[in-house]
Amino acid sequence: MIRMERKMFFFTKLCTVLIFTNCVSGDYPKAQNVSWLSINFKTLLLWDPEPTNYSYTVEYSIIGQNRKKNQHCIRTMETECDLSNSLVDLKAIYSADVLSKPLLGVNSDLIEFPHTTSERFSPYNDTLIGRPEFKIEVSKDKRKITLHVEDPPIALFNEQNQRRTIRDVFADELQYKVTFGKATSTGKKTKISASSEIELEEGDIDPGVSYCFNVQAYIPSRSTDNQLGELSQRQCSPGDDKSVFEEYGIGVIATFILLIIMIIVVAIGVTVVCCKRRRNANRSGKEGVPLRSV
Ligand SMILES: *[C@@H]1O[C@H](CO)[C@@H](O)[C@H](O)[C@H]1NC(C)=O
Ligand SMILES: *[C@@H]1O[C@H](CO)[C@@H](O)[C@H](O)[C@H]1NC(C)=O
Ligand SMILES: *[C@@H]1O[C@H](CO)[C@@H](O)[C@H](O)[C@H]1NC(C)=O
Repeated sequence: MIRMERKMFFFTKLCTVLIFTNCVSGDYPKAQNVSWLSINFKTLLLWDPEPTNYSYTVEYSIIGQNRKKNQHCIRTMETECDLSNSLVDLKAIYSADVLSKPLLGVNSDLIEFPHTTSERFSPYNDTLIGRPEFKIEVSKDKRKITLHVEDPPIALFNEQNQRRTIRDVFADELQYKVTFGKATSTGKKTKISASSEIELEEGDIDPGVSYCFNVQAYIPSRSTDNQLGELSQRQCSPGDDKSVFEEYGIGVIATFILLIIMIIVVAIGVTVVCCKRRRNANRSGKEGVPLRSV
């Protein structure tokens, strides 16, 4: 570090002393905040600040091997570099350097440029798995719900130029985690599935009830803070609009109807009896009234 600064100081001095026409001193700012942003193997290297009178060049390598450059990230004025197609060995561990260099076409006496080294990055272990899409299927008898998860596609192509999915990369190491609960309650259960077809049966779910689901990729072979992918959108299975008959059973309803009929019958009976009595009473009363008063 000290040696490098001394060297830069030396060149700066040399420039001013010899007054090179196109000579540039070494005081380019170093790149800052160098970081990786990677989703489904689409991998960007990002950094700050925006360059003004200089440019950036990215060099990358598998740890311990020769450095390479990506043709799109040489003397660039950008503050990002897409390395998706450069990090060919997905299971390797890479690091990258962002070098601050003169503008394209400007010469420099510097042998070493100010540079910042990224953290180590392994596509296989570090790329974030994006939110999966899924469809819900409820069996006819309503005892089984199947979630059909679509393995997220990745930004890389194979030799035949076919789209690949994360299943092609992770194979058996890819699992899915479902978080679910009844639509009407806040309680949550989880289930891990090694397959992209996730089946929930009795024990997991009550038949005919509406459930809501979130799905995310789960890769247990990764270190714990990288195992889970992005959460999917929440989706709910159709609820069963239970008819009154299913809700209470025929017996209860029949009893209920019988009860109502009986109440009506009793009510009519009582009314009839009452009326008859009253009429009788009236009649007997009238009859009882002495004719004298008229
Ligand atoms: C680096 O990141 C920090 C925090 O996000 C920010 O405050 C700072 O301005 C960044 N540096 C540059 C040179 O942009
Ligand atoms: C680039 O510009 C900054 C400020 O405008 C200046 O301080 C610096 O010396 C310039 N660097 C070069 C290499 O011209
Ligand atoms: C990925 O992570 C696992 C668990 O932490 C580790 O054993 C493995 O060596 C890592 N692989 C790479 C390429 O970093």
